[in-house]
Amino acid sequence: MLKAILVTLLVLTSTTATAEISPERQTELMYLLKHDCGSCHGMSLQGGLGPALKPEPLQRWTAEQLAMTILSGRPGTPMPPWKPFITPQEAMWLAQHLKRGITP
Ligand code: HEC
Repeated sequence: MLKAILVTLLVLTSTTATAEISPERQTELMYLLKHDCGSCHGMSLQGGLGPALKPEPLQRWTAEQLAMTILSGRPGTPMPPWKPFITPQEAMWLAQHLKRGITP
């Protein structure tokens, strides 16, 4: 199931890399956030194995730094790199939304 989603994301990523993030893709990114990121950061991002992805603790980072963390992961920690699945533009979109506060 997870594999199927990731493969789908990979295929879709290559078609949306340069375009604005479509409403459909935004829905997929929200799904990714809830199901994949949520498996470590908590379904409502309140924290779990990974830290809470709530606006307050994230204020110490810029959106660019958060996007880098999402794309490249944190070596030496369980935070994996998401580069194979999302574009830099999409990572920025997620980072900005996380800083603003979203409930996926
Ligand atoms: C396998 C578990 C795991 C998954 C899946 C995961 N993360 Fe993480 N993430 C972590 C851990 C653990 C850390 C803390 C790393 C550290 O110690 O600095 C982290 C850190 C982060 C941080 C930095 C937060 C901070 O305050 O320093 C962000 C942002 C983040 N993750 C976003 C995401 C996003 C977005 C996804 C989904 C695309 C995701 N993570 C999926 C485990 C995970």
